[in-house]
Amino acid sequence: MGLYRRYLAPHVVDAVCSPPALGAWRSRVVADLVGTVVEIGFGGGRNLPFYPSSVTGITAIEPSSIMRRKAQRRIATRAIPVRFEGLDGQDLALPSNDFDAAVITFSLCTIPDPLRALRELRRVVRPGGELRILEHGLSPDASVARWQHRLDGVEQRVADGCHLTRDPSALVSSSGWEITDIYQRYAPGPKPWCYFTSLRAQ
Ligand SMILES: C[S@@+](CC[C@H](N)C(=O)[O-])C[C@H]1O[C@@H](n2cnc3c(N)ncnc32)[C@H](O)[C@@H]1O
Repeated sequence: MGLYRRYLAPHVVDAVCSPPALGAWRSRVVADLVGTVVEIGFGGGRNLPFYPSSVTGITAIEPSSIMRRKAQRRIATRAIPVRFEGLDGQDLALPSNDFDAAVITFSLCTIPDPLRALRELRRVVRPGGELRILEHGLSPDASVARWQHRLDGVEQRVADGCHLTRDPSALVSSSGWEITDIYQRYAPGPKPWCYFTSLRAQ
C-alpha cells in the first residue's frame, strides 16, 4: 500500500464524507433501528450522531487505524457503546445470527469483494433482522454512467479504492437479502458521485 493511500487518503475520504447535507441521508439510514448493530467500513464514525438511543451497542469493523482514531474521538462524545472487532468486513470473526441489524454507508463502493461482505452480514444478522445501506453508485442515466466508467480508475487511486460504477441494489439482491424499501435519487453535487441509494433489506 502506497504512502498516499495509507496516510493521506483516510483524511481526504473522511472529509468528503462530512458535508452537513449528508445528515438527512445518514439519519434516514439508521432511523428507528433497535438493539445491536454491526457496521462495516465504520470510517470516522460519521453515522454516530444519527443512531437512535434504541440502539444498545455497535460492533464496528474498520481497517484504517487513522479512521479508527478519528472515530474514537466521536465515540467519546456519544452514549451508545461501540467496540471495534476485526479489520475486514469480508471476513467477520463474529458469531452467526447474533445482531439485530447491519449498517453500511459509503463503504460497499470500497470493500474489494462487496458480495462477500454482504453474505457475511447475512450470516451474522439474526433471522428477521435488517440490513440498512446508504451508498453512491452507478447512475441509471447513460451519459452520467459513461462519465462514471471514465473516472472510475482515477477515483480508485484518489479515494482509497472507491468505485463509481457499482450498483448497490443489485449487489444486495445477489447476496441473499431481500430489499424491502429503496430510495434512489441524485443528491446535490457532481452527478458521477451523487446518485445515492438508501435501502432496507431483510
Ligand atoms: C468512504 S469511507 C466511508 C466511511 C463511513 N462509513 C462513512 O459513511 O463516512 C469507506 C470506508 O471503508 C473502509 N474499508 C475499506 N476496505 C474495507 C474492508 N475490507 N472491510 C471493512 N471496511 C473497509 C475504509 O477504510 C473506509 O473507512
